[in-house]
Amino acid sequence: MTTIDSGAAHPALKPLHAAGLDLRNRLAVAPMTRVSAAPDGTPTRQMAEYYAAFARGGFGLVITEGTYTDDRYSQGYFNQPGIVTDGHVAAWREVTERVHAAGARTVQQLMHAGALSQGNPYRPGTIGPSAVAPLREMMPEYGGSGPWPVPREMTAADIDEAVAGFVAAAGNSLRAGFDGVEVHAANGYLLDQFLTDYTNRRTDGYGGALLDRLRLTAEVVKAVRAGLGPDAVIGVRLSQGKVNDFTYRWPGGARDAEVIFGALAEAGASYLHIASEGRAWVESATLDGGATITALARRVTGLPVIANGGMHDPAQAAEVLEDGHADLLSLGHGALANPDLPRRLESGAALAEFDRRLLEPMATLDNAERHRRERAGAVS
Ligand SMILES: Cc1cc2nc3c(=O)[nH]c(=O)nc-3n(C[C@H](O)[C@H](O)[C@H](O)COP(=O)(O)O)c2cc1C
Repeated sequence: MTTIDSGAAHPALKPLHAAGLDLRNRLAVAPMTRVSAAPDGTPTRQMAEYYAAFARGGFGLVITEGTYTDDRYSQGYFNQPGIVTDGHVAAWREVTERVHAAGARTVQQLMHAGALSQGNPYRPGTIGPSAVAPLREMMPEYGGSGPWPVPREMTAADIDEAVAGFVAAAGNSLRAGFDGVEVHAANGYLLDQFLTDYTNRRTDGYGGALLDRLRLTAEVVKAVRAGLGPDAVIGVRLSQGKVNDFTYRWPGGARDAEVIFGALAEAGASYLHIASEGRAWVESATLDGGATITALARRVTGLPVIANGGMHDPAQAAEVLEDGHADLLSLGHGALANPDLPRRLESGAALAEFDRRLLEPMATLDNAERHRRERAGAVS
């Protein structure tokens, strides 16, 4: 249990108007895959309740779990939600209406899994920038086991299809009532596979030098911007670490970061969200020399930046905002343990510690509910 000093209002509770979003505070729910949609990718009532609870708990922004973008190769896990069919759009509308009714804004994370797909009923096999076996093994908490398959190298037609999928999905997100979209270019999924030297061995315009490896992400952002128009909110999530390589760092450090951030701002991003996969912000964001990657992103682009990684620690959260390292904070584990974390921060109530059994053996909402019931039973 962490107790919060309720003497002065925490800086994360200040409202923010940025990136075209009017937010009641600076606390966002980080995107979190929960593999709890219907087998055809339709979000369920249970998911609507799950998302609404964060809005009722006071979060200013709710970012959805990574949502697949096409009925080809984008899906990453069985029971992942999609934003492809009219049925998906109608069911997501219930989510957005309930989140809005509770006073929060909501952005949909758009995800193409590429080589890190462990469940896709639409197509056999996986695709990626190059036929390179991904590191490590599939993730049991999302229903996978054993080594990843070696992906097929994407053709020019596959690339066009992936870009078109992001554009169509983004249009569907806005039709479902989302306040914006976030392009998932982090954590080792398709766009990050193109950016990463060891998974991208291409010799065409999408491989080689840094800006060529970044080309696909920039094209996706430009195409989504062209599809949605100048006023739409289009965030981009980036990370150095990956779900299958936590300690990876961009080889050129701050120099690479400047090039990547600058190019994505130029492509039309509204905000940058720097993920901290598997580590705390302080470890993942500090560059050689002590500057932070999130402050660098703000300085290079002038865009609002979301910091992530252990932001449920009130002291760290305050420092990140007050010292100008970021504009907003996103919370994963802390939000799962405390869907009402902003309300607790307001009142000075203690925060619950995250219990990993919430996500074991699988990261589903059913499992979390069972775990909560068992705990309640043990206490009463
Ligand atoms: C169950 C779970 C699912 C996740 N799924 C996603 C996802 O779909 N997209 C994404 O960008 N990050 C995903 N993440 C990473 C989180 O967004 C976040 O970056 C990470 O948990 C670190 O933040 P934290 O220290 O606040 O938990 C997931 C994390 C968890 C715990």
